[in-house]
Amino acid sequence: MVAGRSARPLPYICVNSSSAAPSDRPRVFSGIQPSGSSHLGNYLGAIKNWHRLQDDHDAVYCVVDLHALTLPKEAGEVLAGTMDIARMLLASGIDPERSVFFVQSHVPAHAELGWLMQTVTAYGELSRMTQFKDKSTRDGASGFVSAALFTYPALQAADILLYDTNVVPVGDDQRQHLELSRDVATRFNSRYGDTFVVPEHRIPEAGARVMDLQHPENKMSKSVDSPLGTVNMLDTRKEVEKKFKKAVTDNDGEVRFDREAKPGVSNLLEILAATTDADPTTLAANYEQYGPLKADTAEAVLSIIEPIQEKLASISDDDVSDALAVGAAKASAIAEGVLDRAYDAVGLMRRR
Ligand code: TRP
Repeated sequence: MVAGRSARPLPYICVNSSSAAPSDRPRVFSGIQPSGSSHLGNYLGAIKNWHRLQDDHDAVYCVVDLHALTLPKEAGEVLAGTMDIARMLLASGIDPERSVFFVQSHVPAHAELGWLMQTVTAYGELSRMTQFKDKSTRDGASGFVSAALFTYPALQAADILLYDTNVVPVGDDQRQHLELSRDVATRFNSRYGDTFVVPEHRIPEAGARVMDLQHPENKMSKSVDSPLGTVNMLDTRKEVEKKFKKAVTDNDGEVRFDREAKPGVSNLLEILAATTDADPTTLAANYEQYGPLKADTAEAVLSIIEPIQEKLASISDDDVSDALAVGAAKASAIAEGVLDRAYDAVGLMRRR
């Protein structure tokens, strides 16, 4: 059993019999940044999995707008991105009735606990974060490296800990941040007494890593220099077909799932597998040539994104705002209690 509070134990780990009812579903928390338009990598890597987890988890999903400010943004840019990603999540089946779906800045407890978590996070720990090293040195980071970019993992820990989270489904690139969240939760608990549930990491099995169609050694991302490599959720049928037709493969002409030797072909198989809930190695046996694999993958992707596009068009700004208001109220009700617990544990004078 992991160290820490067992108020919300996982059913499949050693359960403290005096705690919550065994029928309690594990709580899942995840966050998504509102930066830029969504692409197939976001959908297959995260959103699809979020949608599924709602069925057997107590799900809390957050648009992490405060995190987006760690890199310089134009005024209003984050607002537009927040509306876009929230609409996309609703269109993809995130159900604001069943789940807690909200915007980070609407629940001030995140910023508050984020500060407390900075006090139990070591400078040295933050200095080892590879994402910080990458983002602070990358060209085009406009030369300005904010202190928030450095302390961001402490805010991420707060996001997770505020909801007594058991499971955090994120991609492999977030593994280090998750480990840090676990470490600082454990440190807080041992310094101030049992306060936080120590979360687990969970990497979704399929589609966790969708690569760029032109540069299959890089993760698919919203990228200016590879417009053909990124399939956007709003792409037309023609664009999707063209991008898959032009996807980079290799010259040996054999369809086989082997990420090292055949990154391009393996990426197509992985995308097809993730969209059809199949296994990439099994799928490979169905193909002898790249052409049909590309065509089938494009079709499978279209069968996912076209209905989402239709749904998107039917969701108004008001619908989005209404759903998020309900979510913020539900989120606050949980987060404020946990924040109080943390303040009490630290022992600050409380306002009368
Ligand atoms: N750091 C995550 C990312 O860049 C987003 C994020 C913020 C997050 N807070 C979180 C993910 C809490 C999971 C849990 O993708």
